[in-house]
Amino acid sequence: MGKRVGILTGGGDCPGLNAVIRAVAERLMAEGWEVIGVRRGWAGMIEGDYVELKREDVSDIHRTGGTIIFTSRTNPYKKEDGVKKVVENFEKMGLDALVAIGGEDTLGVANKLSNEEGLPIVGVPKTIDNDLSATDITFGFDTAVNIIAESLDRLHTTARSHQRTMIVEIMGRHAGWLALYGGVAGGAHYVVIPEVPFTIDELVDVVRRRRERGEVYTIIAVAEGARLAEGEVLQDTELDEFGHVRLGGIAKAIEKEFKKRGEKEVRSVILGHVQRGGAPSAFDRMLGLRYGLKAGELVLASKFGRMAALHGSDVVDVALEDAVAELKTVPISQYEDFKVLFG
Ligand code: F6P
Repeated sequence: MGKRVGILTGGGDCPGLNAVIRAVAERLMAEGWEVIGVRRGWAGMIEGDYVELKREDVSDIHRTGGTIIFTSRTNPYKKEDGVKKVVENFEKMGLDALVAIGGEDTLGVANKLSNEEGLPIVGVPKTIDNDLSATDITFGFDTAVNIIAESLDRLHTTARSHQRTMIVEIMGRHAGWLALYGGVAGGAHYVVIPEVPFTIDELVDVVRRRRERGEVYTIIAVAEGARLAEGEVLQDTELDEFGHVRLGGIAKAIEKEFKKRGEKEVRSVILGHVQRGGAPSAFDRMLGLRYGLKAGELVLASKFGRMAALHGSDVVDVALEDAVAELKTVPISQYEDFKVLFG
């Protein structure tokens, strides 16, 4: 019997997932492998929910956003008999290998299943947040930065016309990559990231100093995971299956604080899931395809417990272990460098 690989996508979706799926599938189909798409991330492995993929199913999907095999934030380690079911279904599906495409959570599960259950798994780093270690960039980040920059471009004109302050909330969880790169690229006058706690007065000062200089409007980019120096929590704090807080609401909270300080012409804007939607940039299409080709090669070479990664301009492989060991956050020195552009 021929060999069989499963592909799954877990966690928040991300532009470029379909590019990875296409490249993994076509690389392995070229060697005679059968390919199945495990649906809804780890939920599909727990429930045995999958679909056979043929060349015609994947041949043009790298240009499209989202994931053709669906995703979910499911943690088998938090479900009754979850891990047992994953292992059983691995057998039932007749898999020789599994390619897990995901971020910290999905790959954390992949790493555990590989180490503790001996499952032959290869990882591919995905997340718009760019917060995975052991790779320079995750695919999806570039597209999201472009969406943020374009959104800010649009906010400049309306903010200026009304001489307003716009507080723009940007995704990224506990890492400030999206806020910093999207914010600076889109001409934000100040950027707040989770790595550097802030105060409301510091933000109000920026607006007032700009006004004194004759600047009639201000755009402040705030990471959804930003933290007040006083330690007060401004975000919602609901937890998901991986124990992460579901962030959101900081821009609105800052708007209220501005109003308390007499700043009336303030609006908050939450870019939200628009940042993850739509077609991938050409860069992310190519990065996704390169990661997928690498993952296919790792499967062919039986290099399991490994993850495709970008080092400089080369796609290499690293231990899954290293990718999930710690969150990759923005170095404070990089933020400080950009600060000369703020205000
Ligand atoms: O990890 C990607 C991400 O978009 C984060 O930036 C954000 O906090 C989170 O997912 C939102 O998750 P959900 O789609 O479950 O609301």
